[in-house]
Amino acid sequence: MSDQTLSNLLHEERRFEPPDDLAAEANLKADAYERAAQDRLGFWEEQADRLDWAKRWDTVLDWDNPPFAKWYVGGQLNAAYNCVDRHVEAGHGDRVAFHWVGEPDDDTRTISYADLKDEVCKAANALADLGVQAGDRVAIYMPMIPETVVAMLACARLGAPHTVVFGGFSADALTGRIQDCDARVVITADGGYRKGAPSALKPNVDEAVAKCPDVRTVLVVRRTGQDVEWEQGRDVWWHDAVDSASTTHDPQPFDSEHPLYVMYTSGTTGKPKGILHTTGGYLVGCAYTHWGIFDAKPDKDVYWCAADIGWVTGHSYIVYGPLLNGVTSVLYEGTPDTPFKGRWWQVVADHKVSILYCAPTAIRTFMKWGDEIPQRFDLSSLRLLGSVGEPINPEAYVWYRQAIGGGKAPVVDTWWQTETGMIMISPLPGLTSGKPGSAMTPIPGVSADVVDDQGEPVPDGSGGYLVLTEPWPAMLRTLWGDDERYQETYWSRFPGRYFAGDGAKKDEDGDIWLLGRVDDVMNVSGHRMSTTEIESSLVSHPKVAEAAVVGAADETTGQAVCAFVILRESALEDGETASDELIAELRDHVAKQIGAIAKPRQVMVVPELPKTRSGKIMRRLLQDVAEHREVGDVTTLADTQVMDLIQSGLSKSSAE
Ligand code: WTA
Repeated sequence: MSDQTLSNLLHEERRFEPPDDLAAEANLKADAYERAAQDRLGFWEEQADRLDWAKRWDTVLDWDNPPFAKWYVGGQLNAAYNCVDRHVEAGHGDRVAFHWVGEPDDDTRTISYADLKDEVCKAANALADLGVQAGDRVAIYMPMIPETVVAMLACARLGAPHTVVFGGFSADALTGRIQDCDARVVITADGGYRKGAPSALKPNVDEAVAKCPDVRTVLVVRRTGQDVEWEQGRDVWWHDAVDSASTTHDPQPFDSEHPLYVMYTSGTTGKPKGILHTTGGYLVGCAYTHWGIFDAKPDKDVYWCAADIGWVTGHSYIVYGPLLNGVTSVLYEGTPDTPFKGRWWQVVADHKVSILYCAPTAIRTFMKWGDEIPQRFDLSSLRLLGSVGEPINPEAYVWYRQAIGGGKAPVVDTWWQTETGMIMISPLPGLTSGKPGSAMTPIPGVSADVVDDQGEPVPDGSGGYLVLTEPWPAMLRTLWGDDERYQETYWSRFPGRYFAGDGAKKDEDGDIWLLGRVDDVMNVSGHRMSTTEIESSLVSHPKVAEAAVVGAADETTGQAVCAFVILRESALEDGETASDELIAELRDHVAKQIGAIAKPRQVMVVPELPKTRSGKIMRRLLQDVAEHREVGDVTTLADTQVMDLIQSGLSKSSAE
């Protein structure tokens, strides 16, 4: 698409109407908004009927002790049974659950619902033999392979909450998560494939588990065949434990509020928060939103969510949502540019993908690579496109719709969080229109608003903070082991309402535009990163006295990590300067401690940091420096000269 066409489209069509053919057959009908508004809890009861309950609930919602919610109180169900067995029992065992596409690219597997049921039962039997019981936590640190889904569902089947740790996180990050939720079993693989080469996972697990004496078993999938260290008595090969296990396993029902999983996410302090999701409400939220927002049809669609299972998007929209709805999905192990930059579009064409869900950062990357690449493939099967993880800039939205969706597939820009468990704000395909850059309105059953500092709703045309005004089934129940922090983080800023941490505005039509985080959380390639967590990591380096981190605007990744550090006296005395070696050392230090995704794009050595009189770092000013803007108001600084000092130091060092 030429720049001129893009700009014409951007100006001509600020609003895209839903295509008629979609409207006629859409899963969710237009009266849903009204029905949900009139009888919100009745609406959520209807949605709960998408699942098979071993025992029906007595009460839809218990909100007597806010912010501690209970949904579908008294109900009982088994998550894995709902994702797998019931589809087989209904005669759909032959339907494909996953077209798995591996890297290297000749490595593929087709897994039917019947296959998946067998695998999940075998893994559940194996885990039970290894002593895993309901309530035990199991950590999962895996590449994007079918065994990851099987492991999660096997845990869920046994009522053992899983905590999946993204494979890109470091050994230290894994240690913290295992310890925080006291996991006793870790499921991992020897490694995975990334960009055409095997990468290792087991060494990180060995390093992590060395600091977690309570971990008694490490179950290891052989994926790459690379050599691994082996701890007799602790390490067990997946194929030894699982392959010979029985394919029969009786799924025991669990209470609706039984913990399903803990997912760690970055918060405003250094320590990641363990977001707790429970069974009934979370599954209802995933099933309903996947069905309604992606309009997914089990007998027609091939759905592909290109996130990693290690993030919440993968949990809700690769694993639970699509499987609950009995839909066929693509599961892709690799990256977009291996072995070539058209890989995604080849996968879409090969599998006739009809629904694609990905992040704006990927779309911007494809846009940069040019239209010629997707044009080489037949993408006509695509009928619906989704976006998640960060605000999508209008250029990327319009390009996605045109170059990938052929100008006909609507884009659903879906706003939600690890904490919300399910999509909360999004247009509905076939029902509502979309505006490039806006997530539009809360979906039926969800209530949101934009409020000012005092908590008053802002009028249309104004901005403020995004809040959720009513509890919803897939909401987090608490932070693992820390009810107080749960209350404090989400429910104290605007009492009675959930504070999302995002800035937002309502346009003249009342539609919602997300404006990014208002706290110390950055969004890098759609991944949440905590400024304080990276600062703590930098300060733990022996040469660093102080550090401040900001997210600076980046054309591709949305934001990029930029760090400002003050060196220790001792380092300076030793003649340490802002050398390339030192910068590389500090960047690697962060990658080692947190993971490569947290590695700063830029580290700047400065003599001082801008602080208020009470000692708070004014990141806003550093952000101005990082984004090469004129520095804003400095009057609240304890020392108003500091910014001059920083900038002259930087221009000197860059001139040198
Ligand atoms: C941001 C990912 C704008 C937002 C599902 C939120 C978005 C954070 C959107 C949650 C969107 C997510 N438009 N911003 N459509 N979706 N965000 O927990 O800042 O990894 O608070 O969950 O991503 O990130 P998380």
